Amino acid sequence: MDIPWWRDAVVYEIYVRSFADASGDGVGDLAGIRERLPYLRRLGVDAIWLTPFYPSPMADGGYDVADYRGVDPMFGSLDDFDALVTQAHELGLRVLVDVVPNHSSSAHPWFQEALRGVGRDRYIFRDHTNNWKSTFSGPAWTQTPDGQYYLHLFAPEQPDFNWRNREVHEEFLDVLRFWLERGVDGFRIDVAMGLYKAEGLPDVGDQSFTSVSPVWGQPEVHGVYREWRRLLDSYPGERMAVGEVWTDDAEDLARYVRPDELHQSFNFAWLEAPWSATAFRKVIDDTLAAVPYATWVLSNHDVVRHRTRYGTDDPGAGLARARAALLTMLALPGSAYLYQGEELGLPEVTDLPDDARQDPIFFRSKGELPGRDGCRVPIPWTVDPPSHEFSPGGVEPWLPQPESFAELSVEKQEGVADSTLEFYRRALALRRALAGEIPYTLEWLDSPEGVLFFTRGPLICALNCGTGPVHLPEHTEVLLTSGPLKRGLLPQDTAVWLRHAS
Ligand code: GLC
Repeated sequence: MDIPWWRDAVVYEIYVRSFADASGDGVGDLAGIRERLPYLRRLGVDAIWLTPFYPSPMADGGYDVADYRGVDPMFGSLDDFDALVTQAHELGLRVLVDVVPNHSSSAHPWFQEALRGVGRDRYIFRDHTNNWKSTFSGPAWTQTPDGQYYLHLFAPEQPDFNWRNREVHEEFLDVLRFWLERGVDGFRIDVAMGLYKAEGLPDVGDQSFTSVSPVWGQPEVHGVYREWRRLLDSYPGERMAVGEVWTDDAEDLARYVRPDELHQSFNFAWLEAPWSATAFRKVIDDTLAAVPYATWVLSNHDVVRHRTRYGTDDPGAGLARARAALLTMLALPGSAYLYQGEELGLPEVTDLPDDARQDPIFFRSKGELPGRDGCRVPIPWTVDPPSHEFSPGGVEPWLPQPESFAELSVEKQEGVADSTLEFYRRALALRRALAGEIPYTLEWLDSPEGVLFFTRGPLICALNCGTGPVHLPEHTEVLLTSGPLKRGLLPQDTAVWLRHAS
């Protein structure tokens, strides 16, 4: 069987608001992305995933969709979208778009009708509430002027759809067709373990994203993905879908990627693992045992950037560990998802002023939780203020960039041999060059405490999460390191790719 393109693909997440602004309003847009496609081609990724660019009041950065078949004027037009897909394809880059099926915006015409008493069954209206909480803090129910309450697992501006209503299924099948006809290669499915809520909406004890509960992961959701799979398979060109499935359980994750369901689901266990060889090894083993095709991800637009996460106990170590984790991830079987800016080693911006913050999590928690703006700060393309050419001319970006972004800018790192950007480029190029020689399988080699050695055909990857330098496993050539070796030893917080005679 031919290997499907997505099995080993490296996919680059573009958080559209923060990638590149061509129009000069301080917010990223589709034309800005087009201008930077050659950069992504050069970086060496296979595909891009665009976060929502649909018409939206932006109560949750566009994850509150008012029209599933359009482009918000802030981001451009459908013509811009078509041009972006065409140009990406010419450069050999596939395009995934986000689909948000758990909830719409409260500005969506269906919800506006529902408020007027028409078609309420498309959403979840009740006379009484239960004890469910919004993921963004506060109750999951908001009362309407006529006394009924509606359910929103996220912000009040994001009412949850009722997937027990067939009309919702038909609508989303049609939305998928709309974008498939425009040439997209696949979809990232937002809150893919949501959609169905347990009949009767019983109270819950623990509502965290762990595994199956009355709130998340109801079994009926798999019927939706079977329908979607049939639709995707009816189009030429291996169209695919990747689900945002938050669960702690690899077996549960595996249910979403059965052969007649989604192609992939994000493997958040990898992202959630602490800096520990034991923890990494467990996630790798559990994942490879549970799913036919693995995925790996270290950062996205919802979590603290991994450079900062890995530096919690030792801030100076964050970048070295982030680079080592990347090299390890790219050596694992399966596909890898990168988040814009990680190739520059961007940290989480933790000191945004309160009046700059925009994430509903910050407001709904009354400032108790910082929210996710810190990983969404616009990309620094050059050293120049005020926006590092994120926006043209003297325009200020929608979130302020810290001073440290000048040193981390693309311009500053381009052509600098040991920069994080050039390291990513080398790692991705080497991964591509080795692809034909490497089997999907992985074997562990004996290694010292706190260290991982694994091999795939001619490639060995070694990762040192321990406290001192270690000897390299037997090899014929050092292919790439995430940081310098010291007298031939692998220092702590460092990873290496080696070749061995196989
Ligand atoms: C997903 C998105 C997140 C959004 C939420 C609600 O988790 O990644 O950004 O806030 O869904 O749509």
